[in-house]
Formats: sequence, structure tokens, C-alpha cells
Amino acid sequence: MALVSLSKILTKALNGRYGIGHFDVHNLEWMQAVLNAAKEERSPVILGVTEDAVSYFGGFSVPVKLAEALIKEMKLGVPVVVHLDHGSSVENCIKAIDAGFTSVMIDASHHPLDENIRQTKEVVTYARKYGVTVEAEVGSVGGSEGSDKVTDPVYADPIECIDLVKRTQVDCLAPALGSVHGIYRGAPKLDFEGMKEISQLTKVPLVLHGSSGLSADHIKRTIALGTAKINVNADNHLSFSKAVRNCLENDKGLYDASVYGSLGREQLKETIRIKMRLFGSVGKAIE
Ligand code: 13P
Repeated sequence: MALVSLSKILTKALNGRYGIGHFDVHNLEWMQAVLNAAKEERSPVILGVTEDAVSYFGGFSVPVKLAEALIKEMKLGVPVVVHLDHGSSVENCIKAIDAGFTSVMIDASHHPLDENIRQTKEVVTYARKYGVTVEAEVGSVGGSEGSDKVTDPVYADPIECIDLVKRTQVDCLAPALGSVHGIYRGAPKLDFEGMKEISQLTKVPLVLHGSSGLSADHIKRTIALGTAKINVNADNHLSFSKAVRNCLENDKGLYDASVYGSLGREQLKETIRIKMRLFGSVGKAIE
């Protein structure tokens, strides 16, 4: 099965009230872990690739070609999306689309609304020609992705959300509603009322960023309120690193990277399978 556009699986998820996991991937082992979990759980899945990961992989085309090769070799048989996570410019979204990404996020949320709309519209116009899905953000997801800089969340305004969706025709929307990237410092304060209102006003599938560290109850409520794409990164880093760390600490003489690499990969796969069950996407890989 070739890579699919995000819209193809996201609309079904919204209507069926389940979530599809967007799992950020950073190397071969992570991609194998996500795809193996999807195969075992018969779940549609999104491979999230940040711009940092694009650099780490060695270019936009690498994660696409890698995903395509693995899907073929593994005889995967479940829908897979390769999605640009937090595209920082129209140019980078275009590069990703040209390289074969089947979904892109244009994150122009730090600009004033009109500029966010202008950039999102430009990406939507380009993406439409290739059947590629576009995600936009309103407000600002707080926290940090590995760097020292930690920011507070800026809650999305429902009126700005409907304005952006109407004027850009974007396929899905990430309204920042109190979730943060990375590790939560203090209890999460999610605006569920805002989520309900934004979902009812815009009618597009909503995206939850910063899902790591949220409770099962939080996740279930977001899905019930119209969230269909759930982004996961930090929890997977914690799972993978813990397995590799334990392995190396328990065997000081171990130097074979394929041994601790496969241990980390196996643990990561199990963590992702648990997430898929929580999101309700198990068994939904129907063509
Ligand atoms: P977490 O690192 O909190 O799981 O967030 C991931 C994310 O939202 C990627 O866009």
C-alpha cells in the first residue's frame, strides 16, 4: 500500500470518534517501531517528521523513501501518512510536498492571524494540486522540544479558529488549548470547553499536540470533543532511552549498537501499541 493522505484516514477517525496517533520519528529504528506497532494493531498511523528530524535523516526525501521501502519489505497493509510536523515556512512545506510527504503542518501561529492565514492559504493552494493534507495551528502550544527554552501555552481563540478555517479551507486544525510539548511542569490545564466550541464551529478534525504526560481520561475527553489526530513524541523518547540506558548499564561490556538499538526499538513498539489502544485506532486499518 502506498503512502496515503492524512484526510483519507482523519475524516473516518473524526466520524468514528477515535484518534490516530502521530508518532514523531527520528531514525530507522523509530520508524520500524511505529510501523511494526501499526501492523500488529491493524491501525492507521502517521509518521511525524520535524524539520530537525529532516536534517537528522539527511534531507526531505529520506524519511519518505525509507517509509516506502519499509512498507514494501514489511508487507505492511495498513494506511501510513508521512507528515511534516511544525513546518516553519511555506518554502519548507513545499519542499516536503515535492519530496513526497502526504501531509504537512504549516505552523505560522506565532504570526498575527492575517499572516497565519496568508501562509496557510498558500500551502493549501499548493498542497491541493498533489492531494496532500494541510494542518494549521492557532494559539501556541507551550513547552519545549528538547531545547532549554520553555514557553507558556497561548490559548486559541475560537473566533480566530473559525476565521482561519473558513478563509484557508485547511483540512485539520491544531488549536492550542493548554497542552505543552515535552514534559509537563505542573498539572495540565486543558480548555475542554474551548475544544468543544472550536470543533463545533470549524467542523474539521482537531489535532492535539503535546499529548505526552496527559492522563488516559484527558485523551479520551479530547477524542470525544472532536480531536482525531494525537501527536506523541516525549513519551516515546522516555521509553526508548530508558530501555537503551538499562541495557547498557546492565552490561558494561556491550558495544554492539544493533543489540541495544533493537531493545530500544522493541520497547518503543510496545509503548506505541499501548497508545494506539488508548486512542481507539486498533483494527481501523480498513482500506
Ligand atoms: P509531546 O512531546 O508532548 O508528546 O508532543 C509531541 C507533539 O506535539 C509533536 O508535534
